[in-house]
Amino acid sequence: LKEDASLPKAVKVTIGNKDVELGDGANSKGARVKVSGRIHRLRAQKQATFITLIDGGGHLQCVLQAGDLTKTYDALTFAQGTSLTVYGEMRKVPEGQQAPDNRELHVDYYEVIGASPSDEDAITNKVSSAQNQWDAQMLDNRHLVLRGDHAASVMKLRAHVEWAFTKAYHEMKFVKVSPPALVQTQVEGGATLFKVPYYDEEAFLTQSSQLYLETVLPSLGNVYCIEKSFRAEKSLTRRHLSEYTHVEAELDFIDFDNLLEHLEEIICRVIDTVLSDAEMAAFLKELNPGFTRPSRPFMRMKYADAIEWLNKQDPPIPNEDGNPHVFGDDIAEAAERKMTDAINRPIFLTHFPVEIKAFYMKKDPNDLRVTESVDCLMPGVGEIVGGSMRMEGYDELLAAYDKQGIPAKDYYWYTDQRKYGTSPHGGYGLGLERFLAWMANQHTVRTTCLYPRFMGRCKP
Ligand code: 4AD
Repeated sequence: LKEDASLPKAVKVTIGNKDVELGDGANSKGARVKVSGRIHRLRAQKQATFITLIDGGGHLQCVLQAGDLTKTYDALTFAQGTSLTVYGEMRKVPEGQQAPDNRELHVDYYEVIGASPSDEDAITNKVSSAQNQWDAQMLDNRHLVLRGDHAASVMKLRAHVEWAFTKAYHEMKFVKVSPPALVQTQVEGGATLFKVPYYDEEAFLTQSSQLYLETVLPSLGNVYCIEKSFRAEKSLTRRHLSEYTHVEAELDFIDFDNLLEHLEEIICRVIDTVLSDAEMAAFLKELNPGFTRPSRPFMRMKYADAIEWLNKQDPPIPNEDGNPHVFGDDIAEAAERKMTDAINRPIFLTHFPVEIKAFYMKKDPNDLRVTESVDCLMPGVGEIVGGSMRMEGYDELLAAYDKQGIPAKDYYWYTDQRKYGTSPHGGYGLGLERFLAWMANQHTVRTTCLYPRFMGRCKP
């Protein structure tokens, strides 16, 4: 195949560029362009071969009239994944037909850059669209699954959501920090710590950056971070990962109500930012057609009332041992999910008992049995946020370490916050994968991260 030297020189464009002049195939000529990408879909018909080309910026329909263009060895072995540069005139789609962005490239020349197999090794044979994307075979082939439209739109949505958090915090004047991932203290209990050798010492992968965020409130004011957290979760559930992206913030000189209001504000701002972007709104409409921004205020429900609610159902929703819930029980994932799905709107579940919550949580001055704590529960997923006010008193904190068998000496830098000018403060952590699972209506968090890590899987 040879490029026709009499044609105008082709201008290099990407598929995302929508300003290219379109011809009508008769009187007006469109721009002659060259576009590099990969074959996403291929349809060979008698009159012409149709290629849907992708380059990350969208989809482009390319038309190769049957003849010299379609008879080459390259053309006969075109397959999903083949990378190539196509040259030709950009035209409007003829009346009555459809193509992405209502345009198509009438190819006059192409160069194959990298062929792709069309035999038993073909991408379609490795990632059958009939299977769920969280199946083992699909996870083994995650690198190929990520080439698909569904996975790509979830990943683009994820990128936008993360940016929307950054934007919202910036507008609210929170300072971003980057705490360490290698630590020697725990935040959320020893059972889920990953141990790593650290020279001659032992270290852990961080479970949460919260304690570090607290240390910089005095000089930076309200702070946030978006970092990885690690949990050696021994359970294989739809919403547990070993490595996840944790959006955490800490606010100084606030009370518990301020914390709940801030949480509502940040969640709604992020959703508004996403919905105001036409491309993201379109992805969301595909992934979760019924999605709307939740109305404010979110429902507030105390832990004690949730226990009562669970017991009042017909039939009652039992605890993990199959018995009626009593005050002090953990509300397990299944019960929490049933309640959230039945109520079917975001819930701030608050005031958990001291015994089932982390050592650092502030007790409610009006009821010392419970903490000023909150979980934000979303339909379909359950808990997506965990937060609380933090213990302010020096002696109280030392007693709390003691009660949980935490060696106070390793936490001197955290305890010092109470020694050098304590303050009423609080914060939260939001699991980005769970937030996305809720927003994009994903069955599991395993499809909301690039390469999921959970018990039994640490590849690809
Ligand atoms: O409730 P958690 O354990 O709270 C903390 O870590 C606090 N120290 C955060 C803070 O106040 N700065 O975790 C917070 C959120 C959960 O609500 C959940 O969304 C997510 O982190 N999360 C997980 N996501 C995926 N896989 C796991 N194994 C997760 N564990 C927690």
